[in-house]
Amino acid sequence: MRHFQPVALHHASRLVNHGPTVLVTSTDGTRRNVMAAAWSMPVEFTPPRIAVVIDKKTFTRELVMASGGFGICVPGAALLDLTYAVGSTSGRDDDKFARHGIDAARGPVLGLPVIEEGCAAWLECRLIPERHTEDAYDTCFGEVVAAAADARVFANGHWDFRSDNVDLQTLHHLGGGNFVRSAGMVRAKAP
Ligand SMILES: Cc1cc2nc3c(=O)[nH]c(=O)nc-3n(C[C@H](O)[C@H](O)[C@H](O)COP(=O)(O)O)c2cc1C
Repeated sequence: MRHFQPVALHHASRLVNHGPTVLVTSTDGTRRNVMAAAWSMPVEFTPPRIAVVIDKKTFTRELVMASGGFGICVPGAALLDLTYAVGSTSGRDDDKFARHGIDAARGPVLGLPVIEEGCAAWLECRLIPERHTEDAYDTCFGEVVAAAADARVFANGHWDFRSDNVDLQTLHHLGGGNFVRSAGMVRAKAP
């Protein structure tokens, strides 16, 4: 059964709103890559735009600037070791998808690598040309053009972390390979 369902673009910011560590995917049509990023966030409502910090030294950054797009995949807890691994080595000389046996499909709008196995969600983003990104900053802005999520953990525009979807719960980096998992949901009383 296919668990991934499209997410309406006006709900896409909710996929990263709570600050999960993400996997940034990229391709220039010939080469492809994936790296971990702890720093990403929504920055605009309509159209939905997000920011992600991609160090200028990374191979990811080279592919993103060459292609004009990046994928954001939200790994579940089952991908803990993989997330740390793809954030600890460069794909410049070695295809990390092949090395780690990562199965990626092509996103529907930009054809970027999107990972569903073990992930809770993904977003395809078109890079927004920005002078400061080119000149100085590591921050890249992207307009979200497609999004999807595993309905077992994100449905009707909302996350639902439960005891039966632990492997899909998102990861939050504390530094040094330590993470917390997004369990322990509490609901505020209506004001
Ligand atoms: C948990 C984790 C979070 C990370 N977050 C970021 C980040 O937000 N931005 C960034 O530029 N690098 C981040 N990194 C480092 C990159 O993932 C790392 O430099 C990676 O090797 C780059 O790969 P590449 O050269 O194949 O693109 C993080 C690494 C880890 C392990």
